[in-house]
Amino acid sequence: MAIICCIAYCLVGYVSGQGCVRKSFGTNRIVCVCNATYCDNLQAPETLLKSGNFLLYTSSQSGKRLSPISYSVSKTAPSSGNVWQVGSCVTYQEMLGFGGAMTDSVGINLGTISETARQNLLNQYFGPNGIGYTFIRNPMGGTDFSTRFYTYDDGDVDKTLSRFSLANEDFKFKLPYLQYIRTLVPNVKIIATPWSPPTWMVESRNGTEGFTRLKDEYYQVLAYYFVNFLSAYKNNGIDIWGVSSQNEPGDGYYVSFGINSCGYSPDEERKFIANNLGPTLRKYGFGNVTIMDGEEQRPEFPEWAETILRDSTANGYVNGTALHWYFDGVASASRFTTLHNDFQDKFILYTESSYLPDIGQPAVSFGNWTRAEILSSDMIDVFNNWVVGWIDWNMALDTAGGPTYLNNYLDSPIIVNATAQEFYKQPIFYALAHFSKFVPPGSKRIQLNPAPKTTLESVAFLRPDNNVAVILLNQNDDDESIVVKTGSDNYMPVTVAAHTLNTLLYTNQ
Ligand SMILES: *[C@@H]1O[C@H](CO)[C@@H](O)[C@H](O)[C@H]1NC(C)=O
Ligand SMILES: *[C@@H]1O[C@H](CO)[C@@H](O)[C@H](O)[C@H]1NC(C)=O
Ligand SMILES: *[C@@H]1O[C@H](CO)[C@@H](O)[C@H](O)[C@H]1NC(C)=O
Ligand SMILES: *[C@@H]1O[C@H](CO)[C@@H](O)[C@H](O)[C@H]1NC(C)=O
Ligand SMILES: *[C@@H]1O[C@H](CO)[C@@H](O)[C@H](O)[C@H]1NC(C)=O
Ligand SMILES: *[C@@H]1O[C@H](CO)[C@@H](O)[C@H](O)[C@H]1NC(C)=O
Repeated sequence: MAIICCIAYCLVGYVSGQGCVRKSFGTNRIVCVCNATYCDNLQAPETLLKSGNFLLYTSSQSGKRLSPISYSVSKTAPSSGNVWQVGSCVTYQEMLGFGGAMTDSVGINLGTISETARQNLLNQYFGPNGIGYTFIRNPMGGTDFSTRFYTYDDGDVDKTLSRFSLANEDFKFKLPYLQYIRTLVPNVKIIATPWSPPTWMVESRNGTEGFTRLKDEYYQVLAYYFVNFLSAYKNNGIDIWGVSSQNEPGDGYYVSFGINSCGYSPDEERKFIANNLGPTLRKYGFGNVTIMDGEEQRPEFPEWAETILRDSTANGYVNGTALHWYFDGVASASRFTTLHNDFQDKFILYTESSYLPDIGQPAVSFGNWTRAEILSSDMIDVFNNWVVGWIDWNMALDTAGGPTYLNNYLDSPIIVNATAQEFYKQPIFYALAHFSKFVPPGSKRIQLNPAPKTTLESVAFLRPDNNVAVILLNQNDDDESIVVKTGSDNYMPVTVAAHTLNTLLYTNQ
């Protein structure tokens, strides 16, 4: 079969690029190493598309990393093979973009390598040969990925926010890098949310890191706190595109959650948005800032968002729902189709994902391909259920998965090794890239009808430049050969090898 395919549909050739410098951490566990003078990057895929060819980019358990092969499109139907039909006439959600978070820890790690290595790192996400990020999540104040607890108005009660000021962390670890990224992506969308309001606003039954809620008398003061933050960032040249009222508002309902938090029920979040945050942003010149509800885990939906969106006042302020991925395994993504059907003018966006350590294992799992499969499988699933984008958590952590003053070490797509003055691109970096590089903002999901009985996972998008990206994941131990057929009867036979993630790119015609 493979030989027949090869004769009938000639391989045009391998596309050369500046390749991955591999470092191995064991069998099938490789990372790509970059430093001040070298980093692998991609030739713009669009420039490789010619009339009559298509591209297949593959990353694999065995160590391929976004390696492209160019094949010719066939005009004749193959005599056999499982045909998958792409239909670009019916379009679904329009994509908003992909990104990662600029926490204090990310800035701290960026500060441990030379300026050229640091630029190479940020260019990997945002540069012209990078993976196409257009979103950044920028916490308002401290998080667990900081070296201390802080807000922008710490101390005794300060109802007029007379003491409000950005922190050293903003000036040292965030703003300079946001400003650099803005030179690469001028219209980068920055979203912000607090992990905790100033502690004097919070009713705390057991410290600042668990069982907390916003005191009734400070709802409006907190809305002014948002205005102060947006103004302070604006004064430093950074416009914030969107906000949500609170990171994981459900966390404050755990008695000893252990991380900066503030608890809101969905109804309390509704009240804050409708009565305080929404009207106050409009009144003070920030009415064009996107407001998101949620910032909670999948099992809370659609109820969480619908509690807010059913209130016509809150609905008038909210543009969409933000989601975190940590409990995705316990609830079906079809609930987002329900949410979309009920409130079709509101977007649904993932705003946090990262790997929690496996019990007894280090947080950073070097070269772990399984993590790339789990992440990309989840992304395919949610994009097939109306989600418009994905923002990962810390963009770069150290070799332990920190720093984190609360010892909440995690994995990251990029791990910085300050001792060696180099950084490692993990398999999950490539999992994100298979989407972010090929599905620019403004792309629309289109119909893809897999052949029956396939075990592949897939999703397809029509891009603003009229190219189509089809993402294909094979988590199985066997290869699967398929023929992708376009609306205009072009045939693209491909073998989706065992344990690979692929992006197929072709021009729609
Ligand atoms: C940077 O990486 C390149 C490619 O692996 C290598 O040739 C070079 O020696 C490295 N530079 C330093 C300073 O380690
Ligand atoms: C909102 O409008 C102001 C003033 O026109 C502008 O400076 C800012 O960039 C806009 N913000 C967004 C997120 O579009
Ligand atoms: C308060 O929080 C601490 C630290 O998170 C925890 O050990 C303790 O059990 C909590 N106390 C109560 C009464 O829940
Ligand atoms: C957010 O929603 C408001 C109210 O519907 C609307 O005026 C604004 O244009 C929306 N912003 C974005 C970025 O969609
Ligand atoms: C890779 O990550 C997965 C998911 O976190 C985990 O179950 C597995 O043990 C890891 N593999 C290795 C070799 O650490
Ligand atoms: C980081 O670099 C140092 C110095 O080259 C090396 O000894 C160490 O093994 C590296 N750490 C990792 C996780 O690769």
